[in-house]
Amino acid sequence: MPLVPKAIKNLRPYSPGKPIAEVQRELGLERVVKLASNENPWGPSPRAIEAVSGELSGLHRYPDMLARDLRSALAARFDVKVENVVVGSGSEGIMANIMRTFLCDEDEILTAENTFVGFMVLANGSGRKITLVPRRADYRYDLESMSREINEYTKIIYLANPDNPTGTIFTREEFDAFMKLVPSRCLVIYDEAYIEFAADDARFPDSMSYRYDNVITLRTFSKAYGLAGLRIGYGFAHEDLIANLMKVKLPFEPSVLAQIAGRAALEDHDFLDHTLKGTLAGRELLTAGLRDAGFEVVPGSTNFLAVKTSGPEASAEICQNLLERGVIVRPLTPFGFPELFRVTIGTEEENAFFIEALKEAQGRELSAGG
Ligand SMILES: Cc1ncc(COP(=O)(O)O)c(C=O)c1O
Repeated sequence: MPLVPKAIKNLRPYSPGKPIAEVQRELGLERVVKLASNENPWGPSPRAIEAVSGELSGLHRYPDMLARDLRSALAARFDVKVENVVVGSGSEGIMANIMRTFLCDEDEILTAENTFVGFMVLANGSGRKITLVPRRADYRYDLESMSREINEYTKIIYLANPDNPTGTIFTREEFDAFMKLVPSRCLVIYDEAYIEFAADDARFPDSMSYRYDNVITLRTFSKAYGLAGLRIGYGFAHEDLIANLMKVKLPFEPSVLAQIAGRAALEDHDFLDHTLKGTLAGRELLTAGLRDAGFEVVPGSTNFLAVKTSGPEASAEICQNLLERGVIVRPLTPFGFPELFRVTIGTEEENAFFIEALKEAQGRELSAGG
């Protein structure tokens, strides 16, 4: 018997974006802007900061293992019962618990090719057979083809809407048609980490408007609420699914501060509003700037944009050129899209800095080429 199971031995760990300090040190740059990890550029929700600050002296106590306050607040906000709500250490923490709770020996996993890498690490680590369905030419999920890949062993179907790293969405009609073909014994993980940024799109199928008994909706405080560093996510599902998830989760996750912060952030309407307005304005500005610079932008509904270049070398070159000018973006080669790079929408100043760097980088390319 090997010490390390094959699935773990062969597992490629998640590789995060370059930290700002490392780029500053390596390249001797004073100003470095990180637009690589889809974080909230306006910081954490101020209400969450205040709530967390008031709780520090209670940190010798274990958290409420049922996270009653936060789950009740979420239940009230989204008009479901508390028994339909789960919270965890980020939505990825809940995802990990879903895999542990529901996958049996013969079960298989079905999803789109090159979708959210965090899920793929969990899927690969599970050692189960994974079927990856190629995308449409416009980078969107091909739900029709995906439905044809469901077999008697399919247990978990993972859908990220909007998707990371492409930012694309599938529509309500596509989701409706797909769900008609999903047997009730399959569990759909419907990952809505970026839903707040897509909610203005009438085509977007907010999963809370459909309550299928075999769908687990996952959401997070990491993006629109700016709490990525605290690790707090939440999910909604049928009470039987939630009851089983609650058995498997670590008894004391999420932490005291994560629960408190999530509860406060949920009430921080001003911050959410500010984040959404800034993101939508930034998305327009960056889309226009990138198009002016000759790039094709993948239509996206998130707080980031996937940008198309002429190919893998061009993508690597533009990312390197931007890095040398103090802008960290994410080349999508390790994510399976060598022709794309991803840029997170920043603050107004960060976006302006990015556009300047892009112009300079393009200028250098033009003069180098001609
Ligand atoms: C599609 C998607 N789902 C989930 C997550 C993870 O979110 P959390 O921080 O809540 O674990 C991310 C983070 O980048 C994501 O892009």
